Amino acid sequence: MLAELGIVKMSEALLEDLLADTPAVAVDRQRLMRNLTRVQSIADENGLSLWPHLKTHKCAALAALQASTGATGFTVAKAEEALRFMEAGFTNLQIAYPWLGRRKLDRLFDAAGRYNATLTLVADSLQGVELLQCVASDHGHVQPVMVKVDVGLHRCGVDPFGPELITVAQAIAENSHLQLEGLLSHAGHSYAASDQEAVRAIAAEERRLMLAAAERLAGIGLEGLLISVGATPTVLAHAGFDGVHQIRPGNYVFCDLTQVRLGLVDLHDIALFVVATVVSTGSERAVIDAGSKCLSSDMAPHSGKAVGYGLAFPFEGALDIEHGLRVERLSEEHGIVANDGNRLQVGDRVKVFPNHACPVVNLTDRIVVVEGSVPRDTWPVTARTCSR
Ligand SMILES: Cc1ncc(COP(=O)(O)O)c(C=O)c1O
Repeated sequence: MLAELGIVKMSEALLEDLLADTPAVAVDRQRLMRNLTRVQSIADENGLSLWPHLKTHKCAALAALQASTGATGFTVAKAEEALRFMEAGFTNLQIAYPWLGRRKLDRLFDAAGRYNATLTLVADSLQGVELLQCVASDHGHVQPVMVKVDVGLHRCGVDPFGPELITVAQAIAENSHLQLEGLLSHAGHSYAASDQEAVRAIAAEERRLMLAAAERLAGIGLEGLLISVGATPTVLAHAGFDGVHQIRPGNYVFCDLTQVRLGLVDLHDIALFVVATVVSTGSERAVIDAGSKCLSSDMAPHSGKAVGYGLAFPFEGALDIEHGLRVERLSEEHGIVANDGNRLQVGDRVKVFPNHACPVVNLTDRIVVVEGSVPRDTWPVTARTCSR
């Protein structure tokens, strides 16, 4: 299995080099496993199936770990991600995106046939439904479809109380090449919440809206629908899942400073960090070799704002959030760190915890798996840059 996933066992000497050769994106195996177990337990205790969103890590080796701890299927955002993961042997996928276009759908249907994969697709418009039915019919296939519901992010999805919920769901249900599977939501607006209590209120509201939408559909005879919700904040700070069947968090595997700011985890739960080297110092600043092409300039999901671009700590030092050194500015290959107390010298290595872990992984070919500060393995980022 390891070889199939592109994982090559490396000698101790080569592994040592991986963290010396900076910048390197590292994942702490122990923290990662704790994060996987935490969310899998939430799923198990509430009778939910866990379909992690792969956009966070895009890494087949990590998806295999999620499957081994109990994930029953996987979510992706993009057709290319689905294609890469089907190639890597993952055959139970849903693409939580409302419109993919004819060319992508043809490729996906061909690949699903080749790999004997089950794909669930999403629609939030009559045009989307029409396209899906057209492609499904050309491929002689009955396609499972979820209706995307807007629970407050105001990005995609039908209004749970609007007429489109009924027309879109009915159009799917009445088509012989489509099968209405359920309703799907993503409460990404929880990332703008002030604290854990505010996130919990958003989770409760999401559930209320999804059950109200399901009840409206039951009223016209569309019963027994799967209810799928998912975002890391609303899963970690959930308010109960009665009536919900599936969760699709992504970021929970790593977490980041955004989840810390929301009060959902602490610094010791963040599994992903960047190892960088101080390449220059000046008055109260240290410059590291990780800039926006490594850390990304993303301040938080959904264009949220943070102060700075991450927190840096001396490589072997204690992780005390009060003493983190803020990455204040970025250029492409440089990160400018507030060097309070001149703690950092040229040549020192630091661990940088990012605001948002997901775009960081998308900027690297490989993840170095560490135990403490010791490298143990490397994992290729299977679907890196698969953004079509
Ligand atoms: C549709 C959908 N589902 C699930 C997720 C996972 O959310 P998170 O990364 O907060 O866990 C996302 C993230 O963008 C999403 O867009």
